[in-house]
Amino acid sequence: MSPSLPPPVVLVTGAARRLGRDIALALAAGGWQVAVHYRHSRDDAIKTVADCAELSCASAAFDADLADEAAVRGLLPRVIAHFGRIDAVVNSASTFEHDSAASFGFAAMDKHLRSNTGAAILLAQALHAHVTARVAAAADAGAEPAHAGRCAVVNLLDQKLWNQNPDFFSYTLSKAALEAAGTMLAMALAPQVRVVGVAPGLTLTSHLLSEAEFQARHRLSPLGRSSTPADVAGAVKFALENSSLTGTTLLVDGGQHLMRFERDFSLM
Ligand SMILES: NC(=O)c1ccc[n+]([C@@H]2O[C@H](COP(=O)([O-])OP(=O)(O)OC[C@H]3O[C@@H](n4cnc5c(N)ncnc54)[C@H](OP(=O)(O)O)[C@@H]3O)[C@@H](O)[C@H]2O)c1
Repeated sequence: MSPSLPPPVVLVTGAARRLGRDIALALAAGGWQVAVHYRHSRDDAIKTVADCAELSCASAAFDADLADEAAVRGLLPRVIAHFGRIDAVVNSASTFEHDSAASFGFAAMDKHLRSNTGAAILLAQALHAHVTARVAAAADAGAEPAHAGRCAVVNLLDQKLWNQNPDFFSYTLSKAALEAAGTMLAMALAPQVRVVGVAPGLTLTSHLLSEAEFQARHRLSPLGRSSTPADVAGAVKFALENSSLTGTTLLVDGGQHLMRFERDFSLM
């Protein structure tokens, strides 16, 4: 980061716990100011904010239900009111509920598409509007816009888009739609905002797996290990800071997408 510029501001959704928290802390350690989004995990969000502060990073927590369009539309203005600006969004929050081709229905589809796809698109749209206004204001003042090339959206995807199975049907559909949206947004929001996907492999366990089962599935990859939280957070930071990346996805999965799995890891 240039010492003459104010530190850039990033909103990380779902940053109270798990991968979102790791991403928030990696960005805080790298000199970003971090807006920590959460829905229910308020105490964990406050802990993430405190841990960012330990890294000398200005940070604050913001709640929003990403399935609620009005709440999503209100989120970036709240972040801008607090920090005075926003430079990037990491869409990490995700609804991950099981359904199948047999149990699929509009309710499950709607729930996943709202929080995992629609919210990410609305946040990208709002970031673009903010950055465009900032660039215009800088041009009027005859100044260079701060952090040009750094303004970006990173969408957390999933290696299973490249290695599909029919488990978690609506979740997978919502991530496939987000991947397609990433291509369209990269075209529509350039040159002000870049859009990059980061697709982890199996990284963190869930209540569906014992620790031994998780470790065994984590080893199921050409490299003998899938991704760690540090791998994923490092890829997100790289995507945010590399000024030439847009309209593409970094698969961070030990090569799991090169293999064929008939079932989701949690249901093998
Ligand atoms: N974990 C993995 O191994 C893995 C593998 C492949 C891809 N990914 C992707 O990486 C990202 C992070 O994974 P993760 O395992 O850390 O995610 P997660 O634990 O499943 O979810 C992260 C957070 O999303 C928030 N969230 C869910 N629905 C929401 C809604 N309607 N409104 C607002 N927030 C909502 C929750 O926040 P609150 O707790 O505050 O309610 C939750 O803590 C996801 O996009 C996931 O698809 C993860």
